[in-house]
Amino acid sequence: MIHLEIKQETSEVKVAKEQFGQFVEHLGRCIYDGIWVGSDSPIPNENGIRSDVLQALQELKIPVLRWPGGCFADDYHWEDGIGPREQRPRRVNRHWERVVEDNQFGTHEFLELCEAIGAKPYICGNVGSGTPAEMSQWLEYMTYDGDSTLAEQRRKNGQDTPWRVDYFGVGNESWGCGGNMTPEYYAMLYRLFSLYAMSFNEARTEKIACGANVDDYHWTEVLMRDAGGLFDGLSLHNYTFPGTWQEKGFDTHWTEAEWCETMAKALRMDELITKHSEIMDTYDPQRRVNLVVDEWGTWFAPENAGAKGLLYQENTVRDALVVALHLHIFQRHAERVRMANIAQTVNVLQAMILTQGDKMVLTPSYHMFKMMNVHQDAVRLGVKVSEGSQELYGHTLPRLDAAATTKDGKTHVSLVNVHPTAKVACAIDNKGGTYSAGTAEILAAEVLTAQNTFEQPDAVVPRNLALQWHDHRIVVELPPGSAAVLTLT
Ligand code: AHR
Repeated sequence: MIHLEIKQETSEVKVAKEQFGQFVEHLGRCIYDGIWVGSDSPIPNENGIRSDVLQALQELKIPVLRWPGGCFADDYHWEDGIGPREQRPRRVNRHWERVVEDNQFGTHEFLELCEAIGAKPYICGNVGSGTPAEMSQWLEYMTYDGDSTLAEQRRKNGQDTPWRVDYFGVGNESWGCGGNMTPEYYAMLYRLFSLYAMSFNEARTEKIACGANVDDYHWTEVLMRDAGGLFDGLSLHNYTFPGTWQEKGFDTHWTEAEWCETMAKALRMDELITKHSEIMDTYDPQRRVNLVVDEWGTWFAPENAGAKGLLYQENTVRDALVVALHLHIFQRHAERVRMANIAQTVNVLQAMILTQGDKMVLTPSYHMFKMMNVHQDAVRLGVKVSEGSQELYGHTLPRLDAAATTKDGKTHVSLVNVHPTAKVACAIDNKGGTYSAGTAEILAAEVLTAQNTFEQPDAVVPRNLALQWHDHRIVVELPPGSAAVLTLT
């Protein structure tokens, strides 16, 4: 039996809801098919956005949505995506299989989607093949209220009032697909571009600089040194996969060793954030700058993707655990990490939703996010787990990974059992009778490779979990490879 103690922390730290953000890119079937079908599609839609996906996204309570890329962002010219749709140019999407991008989904469609689902927009601008003028004009088009030509154009295109653009990224992966730059070169470009990346209305737009790939600490050092005073956030990208970048493990089958490797790689996010934060702390001890993990999640070799789309992968309880572990890590680093965006919401990589024609299925990752939403904007609590780590297939993994927050008089506890074959019993300390009632949900699967398919959409869904009330403790049992969320009052 593992014992868990929950207590208040000495100072109050809020878990920013933006840690639960998402990312959509013009890649594979994420935007087209997955979100946008057009208003004359036989698939039920609202102004071109498929209704089933729209409703699922609304229910997911996504706080912030990043768009249009990814690599696509540094090859995207915003003017292609405004005005009458039938007149929009057809461009080659050079990063993603050179498919023809017909620009049916552009600025208006994205910002209307954000409004419809209640998400703040996080737009990534083009540094790699764009100019400061193009970036500035995009922001003027979206946010200016006066009578400039660009604001008039926006009105003519159907949006009278200016939008609020909460976050603006100055380039994506400028060390790679966004320009192959050195940090010194990008830092100088950032200084230039960011001067023109500003909102034209009262609402402040936070500027996010392109940050490091995985453990490139030198990038963080140079950016903080040369431009740190000029950005509100610095990004970090890291994907989770067993094997190597060239030879990744599969999405729907694995060995126990690969399962454990996946858990260990997900947990590595803690080390990455810790080390990048240490560098940021030396330049920014007040923690003004946000470390924005704006691309994370699983990236597997797809076993059954076939023609289902580029970077389409299926999703199991293993993905759900990767979600829970990451959200726990972000929570532990809430002082520095105030936004994160999983890649990518629909039909690409660790998707929340998969679509096929007019069918839609919610993945275990979707359900895990929804269960974990209770931590959004809640106050972090301290957790003490009686037993530390276990060695599995050469990886040091936690016996139980736990996090807790409080909000509106309720305590929320989330628990992860990463062990692929052993269950875990956990006793939550209740000396003094702090808690007298509670409910719990668990996400688990009899067979860990089970997926939600279009034929069987409810194979992996949250189920009620029994709480056993004893004197001074509440006991729950977590089956192998599962995660639970408890609400205690
Ligand atoms: O999410 C897929 C791709 O991964 C993004 O376009 C890019 O930024 C990253 O390399």
